[in-house]
This record gives sequence, structure tokens and C-alpha cells, in this order.
Amino acid sequence: MTDAEVIIEYQDVHKGFGELVVLNGVNLEVLRGETLTIVGRSGIGKSVMLKTLTGLLPVDSGHIIVDGDDVTTLGEDELRRVRRKIGMLFQSAALFDSMTIFENVAYPLREHTDFDEAKQLEVVRETLAMVDLPGVEDQYPDELSGGMQKRVGLARAIVLRPPIILYDEPTTGLDPITANVISRLIKRLQKRLEVTSIVVTHDLEHAFMVTDRIAMLHGGKIISVMRVDEFRRSRDARVREFVTGGLTEEELQSVGRLFT
Ligand SMILES: Nc1ncnc2c1ncn2[C@@H]1O[C@H](COP(=O)(O)OP(=O)(O)OP(=O)(O)O)[C@@H](O)[C@H]1O
Ligand SMILES: [Mg+2]
Repeated sequence: MTDAEVIIEYQDVHKGFGELVVLNGVNLEVLRGETLTIVGRSGIGKSVMLKTLTGLLPVDSGHIIVDGDDVTTLGEDELRRVRRKIGMLFQSAALFDSMTIFENVAYPLREHTDFDEAKQLEVVRETLAMVDLPGVEDQYPDELSGGMQKRVGLARAIVLRPPIILYDEPTTGLDPITANVISRLIKRLQKRLEVTSIVVTHDLEHAFMVTDRIAMLHGGKIISVMRVDEFRRSRDARVREFVTGGLTEEELQSVGRLFT
């Protein structure tokens, strides 16, 4: 990957809320076609990183370049053009409860294309089939399980076939089997759509399964970016603490942790 092109670049990004400093000089390069996972403790700013990338949250300073555009300087119209290239699976599935599954998944099509109803239905059906969820178009979100709702969220994220997909905690709150179904699905989509992805997760098993590189966010900065095999072997105390969940050797033995 040495010659790979940088498609996303965070340049010295700062973002706080009032007194609270969250991102304090984030630098990160994501290569075209790779899957990069951001890990870090709860509340450290992972979701904020994704939201600044889409322009949903303005930064305080610094720049974020997305496929040649600096999203921190764009107006709403230009941002829309960039957002069309980015599919986002939100941490909560964030479906509209009063809309059917069809309407939820078709939403980006209505925002960004002039497809008529028939064309929308065709694309939505095809996309729901891609996430192994055919035939639910007329149902409402609360009629579906959490895992199914995640898949609907995923379908909505990819309905425009974006070259960039952001996944915020795609497996959190799912049982291990459903989580693996989602992981496999993400891997399959990577191959099929040839996208660049950023995944945010606490779920290391999932991260190891879908990821090329892992970046660790700590204290407002990306403190390391490693390939998965390097991450697993890392002796860096902050990485080790994350991998072991802060457990002692004895505790690790008793719970039989996989990644030690
Ligand atoms: N819109 C907002 N207004 C005020 N504070 C916010 C806002 N969004 C995030 N924060 C704060 O920024 C910090 C980082 O939040 P963020 O959601 O990015 O954490 P996270 O790393 O995604 O955590 P988790 O793993 O629990 O999802 C938190 O302290 C949060 O309360
Ligand atoms: Mg989050």
C-alpha cells in the first residue's frame, strides 16, 4: 500500500464543546480502498471525528480533506456534493420511526437524485437484498429486531453506492452471531463496492475481521496507526490496555480472552 493515494486526510483538527476539548490536533490519513478502524475509550471523540468528516459538526480549527475537497471550508451546497460520496451508518440505527423501511432507505435517493418512485423502489429492493433483508419494504422500523434495523441503516448508507462509507459502532448491542453476520456483510460490501471505509468500534473481533489498519484515538489525538497484526502484537501500554480491557494476567486467564 506504499503508493496508495490518500483519499481522506485530517490535518491538525481541533474540536471542543464549550470548555470540553475533544479533538486536540487530530492527524490521520486514510488510503483509497482501505478499511481503517478507529478505536478508543468511550467518550474520547470517535463519533465526533466521523461527524466532522461529513460536515455535520464544524471544526474549531484544522482541515479535513475528502477526495480533494476541504469540508471545513465548504458552503452547504458544496457540502451536499461531498456528502453524496459518503455513506454513514450512525451509532444508533437512526431510522425515521414514522417512515416505512422503503421510505427510510430511499431517503438519500430523494435528497440526491431525481429517480422516480419506480426507480427508487427498484434500487431500494436491490440494496435491501445486498444486506440480506429482502421483502421488508412496507414494514416500520419498530417491527424489526435491532440487528435488522442495523442492516436497514446499512442499506440506507450504501443506497447511493458511495465511494466512502463510515460505520459508527456497527456491531454494538448485537449478539455475537448477529454481530458476525454484520461483519461478514461489511466485508462483502467492501469487496463488491470497492469502497474506502472508516469503522468506529469497541468490538476488536469485528475490527480484526474487517480492517486493514487500526488507529487509536487517545487524549484528543491519534496516537498510533498500525496494521492489524502489529496492533495485536503491540507492546504500547495504551494499546495493551485497550486490547486487554485493563484486566490483569490472572483475570485474562480466567475469562480466556482471545486477543492477548
Ligand atoms: N453535540 C455535542 N454537544 C456537546 N458535547 C458533545 C456533542 N457531541 C459529542 N459531545 C461530547 O464529546 C465527547 C466525545 O463524544 P463522542 O460521541 O465522539 O465519543 P465516542 O468516542 O464516540 O464515545 P462512545 O464510544 O461512547 O460512542 C463526549 O464527552 C460528548 O459528551
Ligand atoms: Mg460514539
